Amino acid sequence: MPEKPYAEYAQRNALPILEVLRHELRGHTEVLEIGSGTGQHAIRFAADLVHVQWQTSDVDENHEGISFWIAEAGLPNVRQPLSLDVTTAEVSDASYDAVYSSNTAHIMSPGAVKAMFRLVGRVLRPDGLFILYGPFRRAGRFNTQSNADFDADLRSRDPSMGIRDLDVLDILGIENGLRRVNLYAVPSNNFVAIWQKSQASVQ
Ligand SMILES: C[S@@+](CC[C@H](N)C(=O)[O-])C[C@H]1O[C@@H](n2cnc3c(N)ncnc32)[C@H](O)[C@@H]1O
Repeated sequence: MPEKPYAEYAQRNALPILEVLRHELRGHTEVLEIGSGTGQHAIRFAADLVHVQWQTSDVDENHEGISFWIAEAGLPNVRQPLSLDVTTAEVSDASYDAVYSSNTAHIMSPGAVKAMFRLVGRVLRPDGLFILYGPFRRAGRFNTQSNADFDADLRSRDPSMGIRDLDVLDILGIENGLRRVNLYAVPSNNFVAIWQKSQASVQ
């Protein structure tokens, strides 16, 4: 029997993120999560946000763990993971009210981050939200020395990883019909950034 995957940090950051989601997802029902990881966030958030249908996704190697959490929780509003790599994904246009992703942009290569914004721009309905949690630089600067150290560590492991700059993400957003409408500072020197898709959809 496989072990249920567990990430301590995902348990720790869940409540501060959930407080943002409670506010931002009022009136948003269909949510796609990109890079569900262990599946912990999906279960925690769907249990609280009962009006939401939560679609998990990730690359295939993480599906077994996500399904383990889904089966154990038995919630009616969490769906089995889609096989979704942002660089190759084919998802129907305008099929979600919101896309949520956590701690993915600094793990993905810059090309994959670009592909993620392109995908999000396509799958969101007009007025839909892209909610991205993680550490970010702003105007080229790190907000703390610990994030500068984390960035150096990521790049030493793989030069294509690294903490992304919000200004760069905002440009990717604009290129894909997404305008940043909010930024929440949350514990552990992280942020939740919110972009909204324009009414006139960009294809
Ligand atoms: C650090 S983990 C974060 C997992 C989870 N969201 C969390 O916060 O605990 C990064 C996640 O990004 C996913 N990921 C990396 N590259 C990806 C890609 N090209 N397409 C989709 N997901 C990707 C990984 O599989 C992994 O689940």
